[in-house]
Amino acid sequence: MLTIALSKGKLIESALDLFRRAGYDIAGLSGESRRLIFVSPENEMTFLIVRPSDVPTYVEYGGADAGIVGKDVLLEQESDVYEPLDLGFGACRISVAALRGGGATDRLSSKIRVATKYPRISERYFNKHGVPVEIVKLYGSIELAPVVGLADRIVDLVETGSTLKAHDLVEVEVITQSTARFIVNRASLRLKQEPLMALIRKLRSAVMNQAALSGNGRPSSVGTRKRKSVRS
Ligand code: PRP
Repeated sequence: MLTIALSKGKLIESALDLFRRAGYDIAGLSGESRRLIFVSPENEMTFLIVRPSDVPTYVEYGGADAGIVGKDVLLEQESDVYEPLDLGFGACRISVAALRGGGATDRLSSKIRVATKYPRISERYFNKHGVPVEIVKLYGSIELAPVVGLADRIVDLVETGSTLKAHDLVEVEVITQSTARFIVNRASLRLKQEPLMALIRKLRSAVMNQAALSGNGRPSSVGTRKRKSVRS
């Protein structure tokens, strides 16, 4: 029996769809359900529905053998897990944004206050660029921070860009791109090698088949909106 941690929220429907396309009939499990654990005896799998930021923790500490989570979360948490598959869906980017007309195109040269739910990614990014920053950790609705003067910049996830637009914010820099990843506990990979490798093989071919169907051969286009450039 394998235990798989799935991120609730934006990724869950695409994750369930991927399992279906890989040949796992998991009828009864949906993103809408309030159930946090779902046992699928016919597939010899148990699914855990957890917060995205908790998926790497479940997998790293062995509460789950494997999981599906965004690369953004992995970069933020620096968890010690094996990451064998880029699943392609859930494409988004982590960007620096600022109020339109609020110096978004200025050089980031003086000490600035940055609101984010990604303090490590932000700290690394601004350190690398030699920009002194004060990081303000928030847990959501990050776009509000510059609007009310809580921060000069935000570092946040951008998918369609509509939340930024709705708050008159513009992207200053893209820090990194992100897609959903399949991650595996390192000990499970040794102890449950056979079922895990079989699962990875099936998921990989489902990802590749979908990419081939989309015509560009790249898994990152699976079930995602087109990425757009922010620099014009
Ligand atoms: C995420 C992110 C942005 C929004 C970006 O928030 O933090 O607010 O999605 O998506 P868009 O570019 O398509 O508008 P989420 O919905 O996860 O809620 P949160 O603000 O509570 O984190």
